[in-house]
Amino acid sequence: MSSESQSSVLHKFKGILFSTMSSEELLNSLDSSEAREDDVFLVSYPKSGTHWIAKIIENIPNARITLTPIELGDISKFEELKVYCERVIPTHLNYNVLPMNIKQKQCKIIYIIRNPKDTAVSLFHYYRENPNLPGIETWHELFELFLRGDVVYGSWFDHILSWEEHKNAKNILIISYEEMKKDPSKTIKKITAFLGLSMSDGEINQIAWKTSFTEMKNNTAKENHDPNHTICALTSNRSLVFRKGSVGDELFDELFTEKMKHSELAKHFGDYS
Ligand code: A3P
Repeated sequence: MSSESQSSVLHKFKGILFSTMSSEELLNSLDSSEAREDDVFLVSYPKSGTHWIAKIIENIPNARITLTPIELGDISKFEELKVYCERVIPTHLNYNVLPMNIKQKQCKIIYIIRNPKDTAVSLFHYYRENPNLPGIETWHELFELFLRGDVVYGSWFDHILSWEEHKNAKNILIISYEEMKKDPSKTIKKITAFLGLSMSDGEINQIAWKTSFTEMKNNTAKENHDPNHTICALTSNRSLVFRKGSVGDELFDELFTEKMKHSELAKHFGDYS
């Protein structure tokens, strides 16, 4: 991939690559954004299952997810956000660049993590299919960029570790893609409890069913034409989101073990700790 191809769609802010769809002015102004005490933030590194949790939240009464991440767009974003009540706002921001206001007001935050192999593979397919990301030829090429953190939203490792420092904060709920897969109803229960909502087991199981991979994939064609369903910072084409990822590499395991040796969150991924 040429650096020109990368620079036309990505730019750096505080050392992290962002899509050029996140304007420099907006990124520079994030700290002056107004968070409300009852705002909830849905945070993830890209390709960690954001749309899945977003869909779960859409199905919870009294929770309203805003359409696009806080860092996407231009400076008019803050005005756009003002019209929402009971906001659940998605973002892919690393903790270090999260607006100050959100930290000061101790807004509730749900942080989704996913094992890095599946995240990287999912990102690889996303880079290949999404015209808003740099062109990429091979898995190897993406993998090198991923290891160096030269991908959109920067290093997966730095992202996870930046949030790890705050994992015990009462206003932060950390959930993993893997635990959601294993027991969706249990995770949904955790989310509703965290949001202070009580729902019956029947209602929770119903949400788990409606947000299963098959249901969501089947609904993409329909939802692609409905502007009320856009979440992704990097495309409005939802059919790029529902795939099926796996695979890994020895190089990956080595770097993972070295970087994540003190990480408790990494224990969620089993294989490595
Ligand atoms: P794969 O590319 O590995 O299939 P994000 O929403 O953060 O962009 O993450 C996208 C990843 O989440 C994709 O992974 C997608 O298939 C997966 N995903 C989306 N909805 C899901 C669901 N309901 N159940 C399981 N995985 C889901």
